[in-house]
Order: sequence, then C-alpha cells, then structure tokens
Amino acid sequence: METVVSGIRSTGNLHLGNYFGAVRNFINMQRENSCYFFIADYHALTTHPNPDNLHNSIKQVLAEYLACGIDPDIATIFVQSDVPEVAELYLLLNMNAYVGELERTASFKEKIRKHPDNINAGLLTYPVLMAADIIIHRAAKVPVGKDQEQHLEMTRRFARRFNTMYGVNYFPEPEAYNFGKQLVKIPGLDGTGKMGKSEGNGIFLADTPQEIRKKVMRAVTDSGPATTGEEPSEPVKNLFTIMETVSDKSTTDYFREKFASREIRYGDMKKQLAEDIIKITEPIRENINSILANREYLAATVKRGAEKARESASKTVHEVREIIGYREV
Ligand code: TYM
Repeated sequence: METVVSGIRSTGNLHLGNYFGAVRNFINMQRENSCYFFIADYHALTTHPNPDNLHNSIKQVLAEYLACGIDPDIATIFVQSDVPEVAELYLLLNMNAYVGELERTASFKEKIRKHPDNINAGLLTYPVLMAADIIIHRAAKVPVGKDQEQHLEMTRRFARRFNTMYGVNYFPEPEAYNFGKQLVKIPGLDGTGKMGKSEGNGIFLADTPQEIRKKVMRAVTDSGPATTGEEPSEPVKNLFTIMETVSDKSTTDYFREKFASREIRYGDMKKQLAEDIIKITEPIRENINSILANREYLAATVKRGAEKARESASKTVHEVREIIGYREV
C-alpha cells in the first residue's frame, strides 16, 4: 500500500481538466492506497479572495471532490488550513529553497506575465508549500495533470535536498500517479491553452446538461479541412483531444475518418461530444447537489479528515524537528 496525496485549489469549481488530470480514479485509488485528498485553501490566498468567497469556495470544492467518489471511511479528506503543521514544514523547507530556482518556475513566470500587479511572496514560494503538502505525509504518489509536472519535480528536489543536507533517508521522492503513459492536459474550448478555472474556457462538473450543450456548441473550430490529409488546426485538435478522453474509441475514430475525408460537420461532432460529457458529469452533478445540501455530513467529514491528517502531519513535523536539531534542552 502506497501513500497518495492529491490536492486541488479552492479557487473555483472543478472542471473536466481537474477530473481527468487528477480525480477520475479516486474510487479505485482509495481502495488500493492510503489516500490523503485535500482542498488547498492556503494556496487560494495568492489571489486574495474575500472571506465569504474563500469560505464558499472551500465548501463547494469539498462537495465536488466528495461527489467524485471519495469515501471518507477509507480515505482521508481534509482542508489544508485545518492542518497547521503544513505551515511549519513550509517554513522549514523555505530555508533550503532558493529564490533563483523559484523565480525560474514556469507557473511563477506565467503569473508575472498575467498579473504583474500581484507578484506576492506566496506565489514565489507556491511550489514549496505544495512540496510541504505532499511530503508531510511522506507520499509516494501524487495524481496530477501535466501542468503540475514541474511542481512535482521541485518537490522531489526539496525532499532530496533535505535528505542530503541532514544525511538521512527520510523523505521519499514522490512520483506522479499516472493514469496512462503520460500526464494529462485537457485543453479549453476556446481554441488555445489548457482548460482552467478562471479562463472562461471550461466545462464544470456542476454544469447542467443545457449549459454543457451550449458551451460545447460554442467551442472554437475552423472552416473545415481544405485538403485531404491535412492536420487539424489547434482548436479542432483540442476538440479531438477532449473527445478521446470522454467518448468511445469508435466515436472518435468515426469523426477522425470524417475529418480525413473532408466530410466532417463540426456541429455533429460537438453534439456527440456534449452528450458524452453529460453522460460522465451528470451523476457527479447529482451527487454534488445532495452532498452540498447535507451540511452536517460536510462538517463531520472535514472534522474527521483533519484529525486523521494532523496525526500523520504532526508525526512528520516532530521527526523533522528532531532531525534538524530542535531537541529538548
Ligand atoms: P489545481 O487546483 O489547478 O488543479 C487540480 C488538479 O487538476 C489538474 N488539472 C488539469 N489536468 C489536466 N488538464 C487540465 N486542463 C488541468 N487543469 C488542472 C492539476 O494538474 C491538478 O492535479 N498546485 C495545485 C494544487 C496543489 C496540489 C498540492 C496538488 C496544492 N498542493 C499537493 C497535488 C499535491 C493546483 O493548483 O492544482
């Protein structure tokens, strides 16, 4: 049995990217491993949410996370800020994280580009906090999408650095929990880039069938293949990528053939795609609504989760303090 840690920021509803990148196999994952699933609500502070929004997003993401099949009787599900030990480990790890390497992180550079008015220290040290989340439970596996690959690489580096510095073999170097050969990147519906929480290009697990149909029908395409054997344009390629993820192989093959023979009608493809997305998300959406309506269940679940997570986290922090040299005088 391996230890698995999975996190999701509480900055917006779960979308198809989150689902296929990290969440989709929770039902089996939790049976076969010792799982810690958490809501990254410290990380959410980098965007300065107001207190009500922060609170509501945590509740929403928690319900959505649970709706994907987490069983709190088997797995540990908790809210990051309920486990303050992670903040201590973050502080300790920060002492061995170098500004240069943090500044070179792709996600940090992207934030600088997109939000030059809010380059806070929390953004710079974001990968250190993420490393703390993972190694505090001494995890071996982390289900993540392609966009978190570099953060995971940095987690390994920080773990290794700690081990080397103190001459111990304490932290394992966590690997991605792979669903296939490669890490997943679900594109958005706007023709470029990945699906994101705040990009306006996503399909959310909480979307109604009508909303899903509307969004998919509006997805960017092009005027169709002009010559036989031509490569699909970026937006069309993206639609095929989503289709490959949600639809049967025979369905994708059918539309690929139609594309190759230049008979494709994007409207037909989108209709099919929307129905296949609905088939996957509809049962989750129903779960979300019933879980959200049960406040007592939510409260009891995170309370129990926090207790279990703190048990594991405080053991690690205690041992790390010993290793570093904070001992009884
Ligand atoms: P977040 O909240 O942006 O995303 C949560 C998970 O969903 C994956 N993901 C995607 N996968 C494929 N295609 C996409 N378009 C897509 N968009 C998102 C992400 O890779 C991620 O696995 N830093 C993390 C949260 C975090 C965390 C952790 C994760 C904090 N501490 C410890 C794992 C372990 C984040 O912002 O993910």
